[in-house]
Amino acid sequence: METLRGVKDILPGEIEKWQQLYDIAYDILSKANYIEIRTPVLENTELFKRSIGNFTDIVNKEMYSFEDQGNRNVTLRPEGTASVARAFISNKMYINNNIHRLWYLGPMFRYERPQKGRQRQFHQLGIECIGSNSPIADIEVIRLALKILNQLNIKGYKLEINSIGSLEERTEYQEKLVNYLTKYEDDLDIDSKKRLKTNPIRILDSKIQRTQKILLGAPKLKDVLKTESLNHFNYICESLNYLNIPYEINNNLVRGLDYYNYTAFEIKINQLGSQNTLCGGGRYDKLIEQIGGPSTPSVGWAIGIERLIIIIKNLLNDKIEKPEIYLITEGKLAKQKVWHIIEIIEECQICFELDLNEKNLKKQVKKASNSNAKICCILGEDEIKNNHITVKWLKTGQQEQVILYQFKAYLKYIKNSVFN
Ligand code: HAM
Repeated sequence: METLRGVKDILPGEIEKWQQLYDIAYDILSKANYIEIRTPVLENTELFKRSIGNFTDIVNKEMYSFEDQGNRNVTLRPEGTASVARAFISNKMYINNNIHRLWYLGPMFRYERPQKGRQRQFHQLGIECIGSNSPIADIEVIRLALKILNQLNIKGYKLEINSIGSLEERTEYQEKLVNYLTKYEDDLDIDSKKRLKTNPIRILDSKIQRTQKILLGAPKLKDVLKTESLNHFNYICESLNYLNIPYEINNNLVRGLDYYNYTAFEIKINQLGSQNTLCGGGRYDKLIEQIGGPSTPSVGWAIGIERLIIIIKNLLNDKIEKPEIYLITEGKLAKQKVWHIIEIIEECQICFELDLNEKNLKKQVKKASNSNAKICCILGEDEIKNNHITVKWLKTGQQEQVILYQFKAYLKYIKNSVFN
């Protein structure tokens, strides 16, 4: 049996990188007062339609939606922001009027054509700063994304930012854009032609050269922005300059989800080939209100973990804990008593492996020698009778008997002097 197309097992050997990533995210984000949130993988389909937008690719053709046994329309979440916004409302987290800084790491689902860096089940690390309209919040979240990438020693990424204005400004711009592009309708690529009717602003994002050429003469989004939008954006650019964070303004950066306003940003990196966006985010001041909560301006981002793993493959040291002790037993009584020995080893916090082969002692010792353990602890009939444990040093073959009541002290001693 194979996995489904576009989904992957994360096996031992790779999982250690995921664990380290989690630890790094936890460390950096909790110091900045971000608290982890875990929302369900399954939500009402309506949530994503209302938040991400009916005419986006995600909602239109990429969602894993189905009717459950109770005839409810449910969807495997394609992203985390809508779910966090829903959780904020359904748990009345707005009651104390505080800022909520939340982060998450979990699986998301999109029915896309799988390729390098693009899967149907993928994972996002995301943060959402909920409750502030200040551009300082935008800077805080952008800085944290970069801090995580820097901590992972990732080089060669590029931060692109844009202001996509308020909803009203975008509506005004959309009209101008459609007026202009209608003249060139026949020359547009098929996708852009469709978008002209449904989601014209996304045409700016087209990768098709012919369409990009037409766009050169199109009205610019930035030309419709009014003072408030411009001030917000300028503050962010000035702060990035002040912090010496390199960035590029990309006037065509519009993002694929409808809930954004003002700031939109992406972090791109060449090593990823065509799926070169590592992180995407922006401000979404109207989303929470739009899905039934109080007006709550917010900003956040998400990083694709699979894409991150491709890049950091060689950067993280494998710090897998390997067994230092190989435990072997012979006889019924020893197989029971061994659990007490294990308890002592656990108290000393040493990694161990218990032989499960039920072969004779000689074969078990051979197994121990082939393992990477430093010592083999033997518990056989003799040992039980004499209340001791035989410890065999696997490199030298040297053996010693340790009285049971001294075993803990013995382990503590060798842990500090030999195992480290
Ligand atoms: P997004 O741009 O759709 O934004 O996704 C964010 C990141 O998730 C992408 O930059 C990419 O690294 C990763 N990603 C997306 N689709 C796939 C896929 N099929 N396979 C592998 N990785 C993928 C959002 O989802 C927003 N919720 C981000 C956000 C949070 N905005 C505000 N707060």
